[in-house]
Amino acid sequence: MQKLIVEGGRPLRGSVRISGAKNAALPMLAATLLTDEPCELRNVPRLRDTRTMCDLLQSLGKDVLFEGGTVRVSSRSRLSPIAHYELVSKMRGSFCVLGPLLAKLREARVSLPGGCVIGIRPVDLHLKGLRSLGVDFEIEGGYVIGRARRLIGDRIYLGGVFGSSVLATANVMMAAVLAQGETVIHSAACEPEIVNLGNFLNAMGAQVSGHGTPIVRITGVASLHGATSEVRFDRIEAGSFILLAAATQSPITLQNVEYDQLLVLIDKMQEYGMRFRYEGDTLNLKCPAVGQPVSITTYPFPGFPTDLQAQFMALMSLTPGVSVVIDKVFPDRFMHIAELNRMGANIRREGSTAIIQGVPELYGAPVMASDLRASAALVIAALAAFGTTEIHRVYHLDRGYEDLDQKLLGLGARISRADE
Ligand code: EPZ
Repeated sequence: MQKLIVEGGRPLRGSVRISGAKNAALPMLAATLLTDEPCELRNVPRLRDTRTMCDLLQSLGKDVLFEGGTVRVSSRSRLSPIAHYELVSKMRGSFCVLGPLLAKLREARVSLPGGCVIGIRPVDLHLKGLRSLGVDFEIEGGYVIGRARRLIGDRIYLGGVFGSSVLATANVMMAAVLAQGETVIHSAACEPEIVNLGNFLNAMGAQVSGHGTPIVRITGVASLHGATSEVRFDRIEAGSFILLAAATQSPITLQNVEYDQLLVLIDKMQEYGMRFRYEGDTLNLKCPAVGQPVSITTYPFPGFPTDLQAQFMALMSLTPGVSVVIDKVFPDRFMHIAELNRMGANIRREGSTAIIQGVPELYGAPVMASDLRASAALVIAALAAFGTTEIHRVYHLDRGYEDLDQKLLGLGARISRADE
């Protein structure tokens, strides 16, 4: 295992290009299972998770070439319906091969994804939506086994106690595109990653409309052909850099961003005291020496994203005054609190609420990464802190941030990587 060593306490300068979105790339890669013809996806971020998804496609019978930021998928042999535990347990996102396998083969055996530190991660909405299309499921030996004589479109309500589900929406969309008749998904996830997926499915010959809104309509077709598509920018990576800039008072520039997908964060950061100038696909950041405390509650898109909650908390831990962070999507997503407090933060948890009392400074300390976005929060805190911070188990970070060390070095950060 490796660790990051960070010298903090100095502002960064320069510009950084935002990579393609991990959470768009994963379902789009799964969608290549829906056709026997070759597909090409561009701007795919080179990450542990995208490589795991490529390995999974290989194990299912595809030939996958991942070069630079382009993934070319073609058929090697007849598709296998079995997604093995060894791969699915590495990455929850693998569960989104269930829908395409059922659409293509009418059967699938996919390992139940384990829980993770951010929550128990149920799949009841995935199964509910797919059952509506005619799939029979049984759970055996930690696997979800699905079979269907045929898939028939239906009207489905996919809202759960925590609101809409991104990957359940993706799974049902990818099953419905080859079902007979029309499917209407109510309370569909509206995330930009779902828009990216719906556009790719349409490029393959599917008939999907309303993606990006709470009501998605799909008219089933007999088959899909190969297609080429592009993964859009990662709004969570961009948001992480915006919060990093604020925490270190760094006047940096982000390239390859879409302003509209960052609106909820930009709105909160303007309240904090940040100023933004957007030109083309470039976003220039102007940060105040001292910001105002801001409170947030996370919700499904277009609400404040849970994937930026930990990074936002790192910034608030250094902002004078009291702020409140509530996570309505993953109420237990607070593993980063203990680590931030080890660096001198003053954060108290009450259930799904964190109360943050800003402190004048954080100081470097050895800390432990626990999940992808908590790791990003620790990098932000380490770059803002005085002294040296060692972030252990940095593989969590490598799952979702492409070349982060290089990007930070390019901004003048003092950061290095070493074996544990
Ligand atoms: C996606 O996970 C993202 N992952 C997550 O990003 C992100 O945090 C999450 O959406 C919410 O935006 C990928 O896209 C690969 P959900 P997903 O189903 O689809 C509950 C990251 O850091 N729920 O939208 O698995 C669930 O427990 C990762 O990049 C059910 O109750 O999340 C949660 O409380 C972490 N039943 C809420 O819904 C279900 O069947 C939203 O989860 C499914 C989900």
